[in-house]
Amino acid sequence: MEKKAYLLTFGCQMNEYDSEVLESILSANGYLMTSKPEEAGLIIVNTCSVRQKAEERAMGRISELAAQKKVNRSLKIVVAGCMAKRAGQAIIEQIPAVDYVVGSDQIPDIPDIVKDSSGQRVFISDKPDNEPPLPISKTRGPTAYLAISRGCENYCSYCIVPYVRGAFRSRPMIRILDQVKALISAGVKDIMLLGQNVNSYRDGEVDFPGLLKYLATAGPPRLRFLTSHPKDISDDLIACFAELPYLCHSLHLPIQSGSDKILALMNRGYTYKHYRERIAKLRQVAPDMTISTDLIVGFPGETEDDFQQTLEAIGSIKFDSAFMFRYSVRPGTAAASMTDDVPESTKIERLSKLIAIQQKISEMQNSRWIGQSLEILIEGQSRRLPAMPKGKTRGGQSVLVTNKPELAMGDLIIGQIADSRAKTLFAAFEKFA
Ligand code: SAH
Ligand code: SF4
Ligand code: F3S
Repeated sequence: MEKKAYLLTFGCQMNEYDSEVLESILSANGYLMTSKPEEAGLIIVNTCSVRQKAEERAMGRISELAAQKKVNRSLKIVVAGCMAKRAGQAIIEQIPAVDYVVGSDQIPDIPDIVKDSSGQRVFISDKPDNEPPLPISKTRGPTAYLAISRGCENYCSYCIVPYVRGAFRSRPMIRILDQVKALISAGVKDIMLLGQNVNSYRDGEVDFPGLLKYLATAGPPRLRFLTSHPKDISDDLIACFAELPYLCHSLHLPIQSGSDKILALMNRGYTYKHYRERIAKLRQVAPDMTISTDLIVGFPGETEDDFQQTLEAIGSIKFDSAFMFRYSVRPGTAAASMTDDVPESTKIERLSKLIAIQQKISEMQNSRWIGQSLEILIEGQSRRLPAMPKGKTRGGQSVLVTNKPELAMGDLIIGQIADSRAKTLFAAFEKFA
């Protein structure tokens, strides 16, 4: 009988990547993926621990899925990923229907783990090496994620990631090159290199800018990376944006706060002035650069004045987009021992003020493309009626093409931007690129 697996993923791009690797491994082990949990003999939930809400959502969904055991007694349920590592045995205590709890590093072992009858149910040790096979993704079309490192040792005081993802490890550059080549021959045109902090990449003498140059031999049409840390974004890396034609002019550079006092409490290792100076240099080298960021409001000790400094920062830097969060205490982190002194109502107020201001800035920033001809990679169809081809610019903005419904996934075109919203551009097809 064929084995069917249902996989649900929470969290960041690294988790999505781990899930894609797992899909490859499951398929090599004779599993078929299904989108219907009631058909599955194996259910895997890949979880995130970054904020308490992410954990609550995952636990809620796992409880619902566990009910399937009433109709399918041989069903196995695996809770994998960051929350598995953080909470371990407690997950089984809370939801006894969970069969196995598996940390991110052991995700490739899941087909063996579910055959294990030794009674061991929690598998969460760190593995120094993790050389995953090429991930397969049916949903990502002509784009792909590729991890270049795992783990993080920056220990930002609010962050659980170093505790759940382990020590920083770089993957060998020869393996990365081979996988980039394989992705390109499979038709992928836009590759996102992933790491919690890609700037820490090192293989022998080769650092991250070195890796970006080394990948030139694979001839990637578009290359981008996530995430950079403002404290280690070097002049060499900034120069890559001018020197490497395949490197997309798009950068995610989390600022977190505009207040030096809060940045120091967060253990971020840079000041607002340093951050500004890096942005100025980037824009000097690549004036068309799109820059996105992450921000946290309500960190312990954040006064109204600190928050004002964050508002001034976003008003003056003008990010193209931002992910904005309310501070959430994570057990075991350095900030968990600080007093969480900003009332929840103030956090909510600050967050909505921040989101409203950034929304206007994003709208304004996106309107700067109107009239320009940009390269667009078609990734699929929009969900609108009637559907329009949907794609991405080199800057990473989403675009709908209004006048050429027959465009297919993977087409590279030039389109003239006619209109814009905060999150979407509208383009008229001009020609194939
Ligand atoms: N490695 C990446 C991603 C970290 S998690 C990086 O360093 O940028 C993504 C974002 O979640 C962070 O940038 C931060 O803004 C937010 N975040 C992390 N921990 C948080 C917490 N405890 N509360 C609220 N937001 C948090
Ligand atoms: Fe977390 Fe900081 Fe590492 Fe990012 S760099 S994963 S925010 S500890
Ligand atoms: Fe990512 Fe969440 Fe883990 S943000 S690294 S899935 S804690």
